[in-house]
Amino acid sequence: MPSRPAPEEVRTVAVAGAGVMGHAIAQVFAQAGMEVRLVDLDESMLETAPRRIEYNLETLALAGRMSAADIPRVLDRISCTTDLEAAAGESEFAVEAVSENQAAKQSVFSALEKTIGGDAVLASNTSGLMLYDMIEFTRPDRIVCAHWFAPPHIVPLVEVAGGPDTAPEALRWTARLLERAGKRPLVMDRFAEAFIANRIMMAMADAAEELMEEGAAGLHDIDLAVKTSVGMRLGVVGIFQSLDFNGLDLIAEGRRSMGLDTPPYLAEPVERGDYGPKTGAGFYDYGGRTEAEVLRKRDLAYLAVLGALEEVDAFDPV
Ligand SMILES: NC(=O)c1ccc[n+]([C@@H]2O[C@H](COP(=O)([O-])OP(=O)(O)OC[C@H]3O[C@@H](n4cnc5c(N)ncnc54)[C@H](O)[C@@H]3O)[C@@H](O)[C@H]2O)c1
Repeated sequence: MPSRPAPEEVRTVAVAGAGVMGHAIAQVFAQAGMEVRLVDLDESMLETAPRRIEYNLETLALAGRMSAADIPRVLDRISCTTDLEAAAGESEFAVEAVSENQAAKQSVFSALEKTIGGDAVLASNTSGLMLYDMIEFTRPDRIVCAHWFAPPHIVPLVEVAGGPDTAPEALRWTARLLERAGKRPLVMDRFAEAFIANRIMMAMADAAEELMEEGAAGLHDIDLAVKTSVGMRLGVVGIFQSLDFNGLDLIAEGRRSMGLDTPPYLAEPVERGDYGPKTGAGFYDYGGRTEAEVLRKRDLAYLAVLGALEEVDAFDPV
């Protein structure tokens, strides 16, 4: 077996950690047709993992995302073991989703590096550890961070980032494997603590905490405000395209009147006269479409999201 087959040819993957993330990461690879060795130190986690995975698959079938008839085949591809070295020895790729502490990560990476073929990529699902500073690797060129979101079998994004010695090819390879597994990998330009989405979520949590401290609103009202406004829009336009719709000229003007500098990423399009859909381009290029056409597309997307959220009573707590 080549030590790093093409992502399309990977047959067996090892997933270390069968907790909140690991059991469902194993499920995603099994759904994509790969054999999975799911490993945990704690046998009770391995006893419950197949049932948890089956429940997840049933939910996907209920939502029409897969056929219920395929569930046994997916489950058959997953085998559970406490023997990490044996599991890794049979695998062409490994991902660790073990407890978020240095000792657990070091012990798993030491075992993986010892047992898994020379060039095979080894991935960490750490959310917030400075992995490349705190873990000793023998072959750092093949160590990637591939950060999933809960629930991993539903949220599309996996953030992929490497340390100073990670080979760019290992990052590209990981992204292709994740695409094969139906995910939306995003290879970051460089490693950053907490990656992208959680950094933004942390800034939101800080702002929410400030509002509570100021006595402006309680936590239930803050959640409701977010869900019924920016939350609904962000899924369609993200942060920067949302600013395009505000008008970048207006955003720059607003910053000036608050005594704030205009950072280059904003000053440059404004100097060019690219303010957003109203001028044909902003941060994004609207490809010759009129403002009305762009707004029609945006608003139909907003209304589809709004309809879906209302249908599942999303503005009430889950
Ligand atoms: N929970 C989330 O929402 C989330 C989201 C993204 C990333 N992550 C990251 O994923 C990783 C796992 O998080 P989780 O929430 O699934 O944790 P969890 O506590 O639910 O599961 C961790 C599992 O790892 C097992 N474990 C610990 N040491 C081990 C070892 N040496 N070998 C094998 N198994 C071992 C534990 O027994 C446990 O079952 C963490 O790095 C976390 O930061 C979590």
